[in-house]
Amino acid sequence: MDATLSNIHLQQSNYDVDAIRAEFPILASEINGYPLAFLDSGASAQKPECVLRRMDDVYRRSYANVHRGAYTLSQAATDYYEGARKTVARYINARSDDEIVFTHNVTAAINLVAHSYGRRFLQRGDEVIISQMEHHANIVPWQLLRDEIGIELKVAPIDEAGNLLLDQLAEMFGHKTKLVSLTHVSNVLGTIVPIKKVIDLAHERDIPVLIDGAQGIVHTRVDVQDLDAEFYAFTGHKLYGPSGIGVLYGKKDLLNTMPPYEGGGDMIERVTFEKTTYRDAPARFEAGTPPIVEAAGLAAAIDYVDGIGIENISAHEEELLAYATERLNEVDGITIYGEAQHKAGIISFTLDKVHPHDVGTIIDSRGVSVRAGHHCAQPLMDWFGIAATTRASFAMYNNKYDVDALVDGLKYVKEIFS
Ligand code: ALA
Repeated sequence: MDATLSNIHLQQSNYDVDAIRAEFPILASEINGYPLAFLDSGASAQKPECVLRRMDDVYRRSYANVHRGAYTLSQAATDYYEGARKTVARYINARSDDEIVFTHNVTAAINLVAHSYGRRFLQRGDEVIISQMEHHANIVPWQLLRDEIGIELKVAPIDEAGNLLLDQLAEMFGHKTKLVSLTHVSNVLGTIVPIKKVIDLAHERDIPVLIDGAQGIVHTRVDVQDLDAEFYAFTGHKLYGPSGIGVLYGKKDLLNTMPPYEGGGDMIERVTFEKTTYRDAPARFEAGTPPIVEAAGLAAAIDYVDGIGIENISAHEEELLAYATERLNEVDGITIYGEAQHKAGIISFTLDKVHPHDVGTIIDSRGVSVRAGHHCAQPLMDWFGIAATTRASFAMYNNKYDVDALVDGLKYVKEIFS
């Protein structure tokens, strides 16, 4: 199996980044005549051969709709789909496969909670607490709910380094607080939020917690039983799997108290024109044909990550982050945003007098891919008093060459603008 192969790479040479890179075909590309230095995995990660092969294989040999027919191919596809649910449950240590709802991405997962849990359990005047460093996906669904039913949205503060201010967050908890919804890792600053502490603090007041794990699951071990959050959401495409599939983990008893969010096929027990009854979770939240092949691809990605070991991956990324931080500080006029003590492999910065979009475009001409813009975190940009940053984000396959290419690219930008 591919995951076992990766283990062999590790055992032979500790963390063998070259062997890992060789499993990602796109990394052999040239961009504008330069070797690709892909530093935008925070937006979406590249895919290893095992994911590409698994998806190709399902489409070629085992594809049909799931849960629909007694015929062999439908059963094979169902096995892939439900097998993926088991893989996810095992990976995050859920108590049961039934706690794993497949969605399309994190945004869909948070919208599901806002609409279903929010409409059932929240009332006018109730408070949802988020933080200053949330992605729009963990802001706008709550604003939609606010506009619809009159909840209040409270924002927990951060400091200049990008640390969540835990004492101030705890002081915000009151009898009206009905949910805390926080990012695990800031997609802009890289801050690793001490979510276990936040969850414990919230639970002392019986407040449920949702964690946006879009960036978190990519860089840290997630054990949902240990964390004990009510909900944890993540997406496949940042975890080296395909786009179009996300996961909402939810405690089973809670999921089964929540009404369906979307209606359609596969989520029902019995339909008449007068009345419809619904299946238990996860089926009740998976209306219509689900992302079948994407689920199979996600399972392959998880096996692959697990084979290398998320702890090994994060240690590698941490090393690159330290190297990148040191090297970026060589560049005149650079300001780095996000200096929390615990940071994942994400580094955002601005260059004096150069718009981040220009930075991104110019370094792309030298093969370096980074994200430039507000990173779907405009309130965070406003808090820092800036419109945008350039962001480099690291994955298991990045190496020092990528960082050097970034730094050389930035020096070239400075030359052009001098
Ligand atoms: N949420 C993704 C990012 O941070 C798209 O780039």
